[in-house]
Amino acid sequence: MQASEESVTLRPATPDDEAFLLQVYAGTRSDELDGLGWDDNQKLAFVSMQFNAQRRCYPEADNKIILLNERPIGRMLVGATEDEILLIDIAVLPEHRNAGIGTSLIRNLLSEAAAAEKPVRVHVFKYSRAVHLYERLGFSTVSCDSAYLEMAWVPDDRSQLIIPYRMSPYVHLLESHLVPGIIQRGIFHQFTGEVLEPREGVRSLLFAAKLGNRVSFSEDDLTNLAEDGTQIRQLIEKEFLIPDGYDPLTPFVNQYVVRPLQNPALAYVSETGERLLVRTSMAHRVYSPRRDELPAIIEEKMTDIATRIFLLADGTRTLREIFHTPGLEGANILEEPGVRQALDFLTSPERQLIKFTPTTEDLGDPHKPCNTVPRNLYHSLRWDSQPHQGSSNSIIDFHLQGIEDAWWEFDLIETTVNHSFRFPNEALGGLDYGSRFCLSALKPELLPLVGRSDRLEVLEVGGGTGTFARSFIKEAKRVLNGAELNYHILDLSPALIESQRKLLAEFSPAIEHFQQDATRFDIPGHRFDLVIANEVIADFPTSLVRRNESTSDKAQGWEGEGAYYLERYDLSPEDAPDSFLVNSGAFEFLESAWRHLSPGGMLIVSEYGSATRYPKIGFKCKLLPLKEFLEMDDQVLILNANEEGILCLNHILGKYGMSLPYAVISSTEFDRQFQAISEQIGLAGVSFSPLRQGLHCGPEPGDFMVLIMTRPGS
Ligand SMILES: C[S@@+](CC[C@H](N)C(=O)[O-])C[C@H]1O[C@@H](n2cnc3c(N)ncnc32)[C@H](O)[C@@H]1O
Repeated sequence: MQASEESVTLRPATPDDEAFLLQVYAGTRSDELDGLGWDDNQKLAFVSMQFNAQRRCYPEADNKIILLNERPIGRMLVGATEDEILLIDIAVLPEHRNAGIGTSLIRNLLSEAAAAEKPVRVHVFKYSRAVHLYERLGFSTVSCDSAYLEMAWVPDDRSQLIIPYRMSPYVHLLESHLVPGIIQRGIFHQFTGEVLEPREGVRSLLFAAKLGNRVSFSEDDLTNLAEDGTQIRQLIEKEFLIPDGYDPLTPFVNQYVVRPLQNPALAYVSETGERLLVRTSMAHRVYSPRRDELPAIIEEKMTDIATRIFLLADGTRTLREIFHTPGLEGANILEEPGVRQALDFLTSPERQLIKFTPTTEDLGDPHKPCNTVPRNLYHSLRWDSQPHQGSSNSIIDFHLQGIEDAWWEFDLIETTVNHSFRFPNEALGGLDYGSRFCLSALKPELLPLVGRSDRLEVLEVGGGTGTFARSFIKEAKRVLNGAELNYHILDLSPALIESQRKLLAEFSPAIEHFQQDATRFDIPGHRFDLVIANEVIADFPTSLVRRNESTSDKAQGWEGEGAYYLERYDLSPEDAPDSFLVNSGAFEFLESAWRHLSPGGMLIVSEYGSATRYPKIGFKCKLLPLKEFLEMDDQVLILNANEEGILCLNHILGKYGMSLPYAVISSTEFDRQFQAISEQIGLAGVSFSPLRQGLHCGPEPGDFMVLIMTRPGS
């Protein structure tokens, strides 16, 4: 029988309809009551009670009988308020179901609702087939509890539906104390790795939500909240705020599972056959740690299910697909025993072993949320004597007095490109950094003095521990082919000069050391053919420049201590931000260095920065990327490991009498040394990427530029 051939109408219910209404109502609850093991009397008692309760709850509701060709076949109970329409119940006798009767009546109701510009709300038993009917009609789930879904349909203008939200249990509020005197706040989702910086107006709302309160908005409310509203929409889209009653894990079942590149955690199989996880805490991080502040290495057992997810989380499978692998099938993944616990374990802020992403496009980008492990930033500022006097003074003081242990500082804590490439590396044609730098610098086409003169005077500014000089000198002696090399090092730090003296004691003629500030150095009676400053100028003092809006002349439109340098060097940074820092120390240094250059002499400065974006190197002279200067092969696969990665690796390798230095290690080198043991212990979590992706230990060479200035004359 097709409903369209028949006449379906509605009429108000009367007291005579009571028995019929109870019969219809009982039919609507049969899905739920089947399987509870109750007999017919128990079911009838329960249904009568619920039927009466429903009527008491909605005394004002419009109670209608559904008629087919004038014969009662069902009921429809509809409530209406000023803001919405509530479809309390719609049911037809079983023999009239699946004929489209309910659907057409609901469609009529939706038309009335659209005319009145009101949303329609309904509660549906979670596992009933009616859920799909409502979905087809355009309803969506706004909340759910253990048995019922609350679904809503809104007219084209969704503006009036008020939806209650709560904070996902997988969301955390973060505070960063990295910059002295400033607290930065973030909100972080442990399943996606997304971090948002909440606007001030949104923050109090988030605190309320964190305390378990519901926060409710309509689209209109969000629009009225302007930028705060836009951010709240983002928080909803990114699953930070979820509809009340909604399972926070549901959206992730069909997302790809990824092991974040930044996480140093590794897994291996112990001698007794257990799968063990080796990690550091991702819940906080100590910057510039002292020796006794190195992160603790934690070794812990993983459950079978957590191990499977961890090992298969390579970004090629969704959570659902992981469960389709042999041994892990399951119809409803989230109901599988142990899965929720495994996900809690793997994503806890302390571990962050896996992340979820809806698209695999982000996998290659190390800075995308799925590859990062946001950490609560507790900064143990070791040199924070005058935090409010600006950073410049404390950096000078740090170099004068703050460095206690040169090797600790440069090999592990503030690694320079030079230190991370202190061992011969495939990416540098089998050379270490200082040797490769020397080869590039002493090319006769760059420095014509090489080959013409029988003596080369070199000044290295900011020599660090002395490793750069050691490699440079060894290589220079070879390149210079008998010509004399006089090497000098200028540095501010007594501890580093001491380290340089020890390391370079073997060389003859002896290295000359000067303890001076490079921004105003003066070495009377000396002229140099080559002055090198490798990763030094970023340590120099800076001065603030602000755009002066009141000046009409653009060229004159800068004020602040640093404006002097813009004028003096004729820099016109039209594209600059409204305020920025000028590296005033670098200008002073360049002038001092220029005065000390012999005719035809050359100055090479390497530092992070860019020619086109800030911080910007603003000279019109030869400026080239460091990778080009060193002819670095950036396709070489490099171990992705920060210092914590090396600590975790060494924890495992140490059990087999092996270890790795904290330096850039190529994949070939790693395999040469550790392949046999990696295979034996099923080492998992170690990853390699081409050098240009920049996640290997130490700084990213692609961020560095080289400035070359040659003094005229011969
Ligand atoms: C980041 S390290 C670089 C060390 C080395 N060039 C390398 O690449 O490994 C900076 C060096 O510059 C020195 N330095 C920093 N500020 C200085 C200043 N104002 N005058 C002289 N040396 C300074 C530090 O003591 C340190 O030796």
